[in-house]
Amino acid sequence: MLNEIKELDKKYYMNTFGDRLPVAFERGEGMKLYADNGDVYYDFLGGIAVNAIGHCHPKFTAALKSQLDRLVHTSSLYYIENQARLAKKLVESTCADKAFFCNSGAEANEGAIKLAKMYFYKKGIDRKEIIYLDHSFHGRTLATVAATGQEHYQAPYRPLMPGFVMAEPNSFEAVEEAVTEHTAAVIIELIQGEAGVFPMDMEYAQRLREFCDEKGILLIVDEVQTGMGRCGRLFAHELYGIEPDIFTSAKALGGGVPIGAVCAKAEVAAAFEPGDHGTTFGGNPFATAAGLAVFDVIESEGLVENSAKMGELFLVRLREVMAQHPDKVTAVRGAGLLIGIEIAPEKAAAVFKGLHEHKMLTSLCKGRTIRIAPALNITKSEIELFINALCAVLEEV
Ligand SMILES: Cc1ncc(COP(=O)(O)O)c(C=O)c1O
Repeated sequence: MLNEIKELDKKYYMNTFGDRLPVAFERGEGMKLYADNGDVYYDFLGGIAVNAIGHCHPKFTAALKSQLDRLVHTSSLYYIENQARLAKKLVESTCADKAFFCNSGAEANEGAIKLAKMYFYKKGIDRKEIIYLDHSFHGRTLATVAATGQEHYQAPYRPLMPGFVMAEPNSFEAVEEAVTEHTAAVIIELIQGEAGVFPMDMEYAQRLREFCDEKGILLIVDEVQTGMGRCGRLFAHELYGIEPDIFTSAKALGGGVPIGAVCAKAEVAAAFEPGDHGTTFGGNPFATAAGLAVFDVIESEGLVENSAKMGELFLVRLREVMAQHPDKVTAVRGAGLLIGIEIAPEKAAAVFKGLHEHKMLTSLCKGRTIRIAPALNITKSEIELFINALCAVLEEV
């Protein structure tokens, strides 16, 4: 079966993902994914921080089945109950006053950038520049590529959208230097996920918030990867004790059903008026049913708390492994259940491959950091399974 899928993929699918890992899954349950040949894998990547409540959570599946029987899509021409309820949920659970739904993380960031520009446009102030950080990742659309501090993503698409200025991460002076009288916003990830799970310094984030306030610049926090309990709080900005003017969410928000959100303070959100922004699919009854079900499971099962607790335990265990293999594991970092295990460069690919052969799914960031982003309802024994597999792999490489 796998060979047939591979052939179809090679023949008909655009080659954006190259040679994928040699497995196709046909069923999932909690942390487990079942391959079409019967092999069972443990999903420590969670679909890249998407499957926050695990695979096929019964409450999630039931909510989606029931929604499917009633209504999938109507359009933004009509009121949508689930959309209104999910917006309420997001607003009441965070520092935001309004939400807008779209279909992906990139689209959410695109919306955030548009909102920041619109905010100053409506005030008649000439501020169109966006500062972004080196090593960041904000998505694959043209505006978000222009805001992504990685040369290989930007190079083929030059000329990029103008008005994007890059600054070094974790350097307050770099932001000060990049700011001009035309700066509209600074967009940051508080933990740079794709870069290899690099948390920003607390002092940097807090100073940046104060500085933006002083200068009247908007702070956009991209919480596409860090949000929905991933980092041990509902959103990572809570860990830093700061309130963004705009933050975005996606990935875990729909538990696997595509949805993104732009969340903003009232004064900023008010800049979007009828016709200024829109979407066909964004926040449709099905996608927002998924968002409501994810929220329900996260709240009723205490998953933000579990993420903090299990994340702490995971880090402790990984640091013990690092102490046993200081030549192979060079750093362990993260918050909650977004964790990076940095491996000596010459061993990283082999460790990643070894984990896969031990049926542990992870990803390799920048060729040297194993990223872990499992379901937030992970148990201690599942963490131990990973630790045992990692130790075995480290002995082998
Ligand atoms: C921080 C961050 N922002 C934006 C995106 C883009 O999200 P999407 O792939 O849903 O467009 C990602 C995806 O990995 C991400 O990690």
